[in-house]
Amino acid sequence: MSDDPAGPVQPSVPAPRLLSGNTRGERTRVRGRLALLLLGGASMLLGLSAGLMLLGLPAPITTERLPEVHGQLMIVGFLGTLIALERAIALRQAWAYAAPLATGVGALLLVTPLPMTAGLAVQAVGLGILVAVYAAIWRRAASTALAIQWLGSFLALCASLLWLAQVPTGALFPFLAGFLVLTIAGERLELAHVASPPPGAARSLLLISAAVAITGAGSLLWPTPGSELFGASLLATVLWLLRYDVATRTIRSVGLPRYTAANLLLGMAWLAVAGITWLTLGPQPDGPGYDVVVHAIGLGFAMSMVLAHAPIILPAVLIRPLPYRPVLYLATAALQVSLILRVAGEVRGAGWAWQAGGAGNVAALLAFVAMAAVLVVRR
Ligand code: HEM
Repeated sequence: MSDDPAGPVQPSVPAPRLLSGNTRGERTRVRGRLALLLLGGASMLLGLSAGLMLLGLPAPITTERLPEVHGQLMIVGFLGTLIALERAIALRQAWAYAAPLATGVGALLLVTPLPMTAGLAVQAVGLGILVAVYAAIWRRAASTALAIQWLGSFLALCASLLWLAQVPTGALFPFLAGFLVLTIAGERLELAHVASPPPGAARSLLLISAAVAITGAGSLLWPTPGSELFGASLLATVLWLLRYDVATRTIRSVGLPRYTAANLLLGMAWLAVAGITWLTLGPQPDGPGYDVVVHAIGLGFAMSMVLAHAPIILPAVLIRPLPYRPVLYLATAALQVSLILRVAGEVRGAGWAWQAGGAGNVAALLAFVAMAAVLVVRR
């Protein structure tokens, strides 16, 4: 995941040989990756339908279990599968693909009549393999950035095991937030080298990441002051990113680097919203504050990062370019406006705004998927 002033660089995935998938082996590999990507996509669609049900709106797919597993579908089934797929491509060993396979298949099992523990257990296996994949990459090329991402995957595994132990999502959400934040922060650190940061920059992000992990875990045992300290750690992450991430420079460039930077900076702003909410209001295990922190992180931060990195990651996965076009900003704008409406509706108790904003979130993500598919196919 990357951008730099001169254009994209990709330290975490092997350089894609665009449109060169001619040999049978290459075609099979690409088909396998596409199948895993679609597995993650199916999980996202199920998760979006669950989101509509949670908003009390009509949804295309409805099952009794669906709203209950919305978080698992979105965070492990969709984002976890994407992250694990990218890591498997980076490691280039067949066993590593078991990670995205298990996180995705586990998500689908969650919506079948099988006991919920079946899907949760398969997802936990997938996250356990992801932890091992990071360890294998570490043996090849150790780095601070990798240590931070490993820590993130370990938090996700902990969350998955806590789900199996029936701990409610509201109590363990900081583990999931830590997973998303540390995975992305580690990837951004890999990229910060283009801006030649001082030697202490990596060390300071490692310390901040340790604080995110410790306070996130601590908030389960001591919601106060654990949640406040977790919020402070997230704000420290935002400050680090603002200081060292190349996005603050590439926003002044043009084309893809500027588009990537715009989404990154918006994502950082939403991370700050979650951090300030936890820091000032303390634990948010339910109610309006819960919806705000969960979606400031899950939609505002994580989905902005997906939008930012898709034109860089997709070519590495599919060996087919996703050309940048300014029309992609439409999805960015739709996501931002709808999320602001949703949060404002939540804060002011205006149910209609909350629902309209939530429906807008769904539309924004679907619009991005549709635009990306059209751009890839037409190219
Ligand atoms: C895009 C449209 C989305 C809609 C309409 C939506 C809707 C909702 C609603 C209405 C709730 C219940 C809130 C509450 O109990 O206060 C919820 C909970 C949640 N959402 Fe979303 N959501 C969306 C996207 C996402 C994304 C992208 C993520 C994460 C990546 C996410 C993660 C969660 C989690 C973890 C919960 C808590 C679930 C639980 O406590 O069991 N959501 N969502």
